[in-house]
Amino acid sequence: MQQQFEASLDYARTLDDADILHSFRERFYFPQHRGKNALYFCGNSLGLQPRSTSWLFQRELDDWANLGVEGHFNATNPWMYYHKQFSASLSKIVGASESEVVAMNTLTVNLHLLLISFYRPTAQRYKIIMEAGAFPSDQYAIETQVKMHGFDPSDAIIELTPKPGAHTLDDQDIIDAIKDAGDKVACVMMGGVNYYTGQWYDLKAITEAAHAVGALCGFDLAHAVGNVPLQLHEWDVDFACWCSYKYLNSGPGGVGGVYVHERHGNNPETPRLAGWWGNDESTRFQMRKGFVPAKGAASWQMSNAPVFNMVAHKASLDIFDKVSMKQLRAKSLQLTAYLEYLLSQLDNLDFEIITPKEPHRRGAQLSLLFGKDGKAVFDHLSRNGVIADWREPNVIRVAPVPMYNSYEDVYKLYEILKNYK
Ligand SMILES: Cc1ncc(COP(=O)(O)O)c(C=O)c1O
Repeated sequence: MQQQFEASLDYARTLDDADILHSFRERFYFPQHRGKNALYFCGNSLGLQPRSTSWLFQRELDDWANLGVEGHFNATNPWMYYHKQFSASLSKIVGASESEVVAMNTLTVNLHLLLISFYRPTAQRYKIIMEAGAFPSDQYAIETQVKMHGFDPSDAIIELTPKPGAHTLDDQDIIDAIKDAGDKVACVMMGGVNYYTGQWYDLKAITEAAHAVGALCGFDLAHAVGNVPLQLHEWDVDFACWCSYKYLNSGPGGVGGVYVHERHGNNPETPRLAGWWGNDESTRFQMRKGFVPAKGAASWQMSNAPVFNMVAHKASLDIFDKVSMKQLRAKSLQLTAYLEYLLSQLDNLDFEIITPKEPHRRGAQLSLLFGKDGKAVFDHLSRNGVIADWREPNVIRVAPVPMYNSYEDVYKLYEILKNYK
């Protein structure tokens, strides 16, 4: 793969010329550095703002000003049904049916709501399996869920760690750990793509292994959604949640999303915490006693749609509707491979890439673990207009995002790194 690339600006530009997604970058604002677009490689943390966001906000503000409460039914996008307009786009992005997904709340809140439904430990079957070094919010969520059920986290949580000397988990080791824990496992709950290493786990195989021991299986897709192609329904995943402010470009603290497999979502016996918005729509306004869950993931909603937190989601998903995950992934594979190739040409820096080499085990992001000078290199990048991301103790994460990054961006990053002394 690597030999086909060249380390030159002209070559990077020929790749951009051949890129059918190249013009999509014009739909986004880039942060400015000394009067020019910064080189933005931080879409794995906060995606860029679609240019259409502000007028969509203005439209909602105008509808509110002009219609007051009647906007619930008469706004351009009636607020009453606001969340529904995301189902079709999200279902394509995560590989599910429309009724299996809903945009609501934020990620950690949704993780708790889903664990309440799908981590139902008993005295015999109470363990929950996760990756060691998961994003802290996930660790806290799982730790406190376990405690709420009266179990000791150090006993109930099985954390999977890479082999000594390795930075990432072996796929087979994950499967073996699930098998080994067997009928003690109530739930397997992992990240889809690990935030630190960029490793994309084999979600299908993990789900199969969890089901084989009689456990349920769910994923935090914060770093996977809009980044890698997903087939949650086909892979038989029980539940998943994600945030929308990374690869989905929906703004800081933007509305999260959940997926619930239809066998759970359509089963009124599935336990869930309820509010009026999750009630069957046809009787919601009868204000009667007794919760009647709507069909599908929608029944996990509690409150009416937070429209102003969903406007930016709309701006972004309208753009996602114009491309397929297949097209994005095809570009992403090549863009990240080009970054990897250019990094391999550097001999002035002391780092190793800890993200898996195999394309099917990673998304857009590469994580560079520095032996020395990591922070100094990061500061050099910042001074030169590169926005990347620093993670303690010694990692720079770089995510070329296929929706708006170009091959030229990647090449310029390489030049700046090459000039580090
Ligand atoms: C993997 C992962 N889980 C959880 C969170 C927390 O998200 P939120 O603050 O939206 O709940 C993040 C935030 O970046 C994350 O990357």
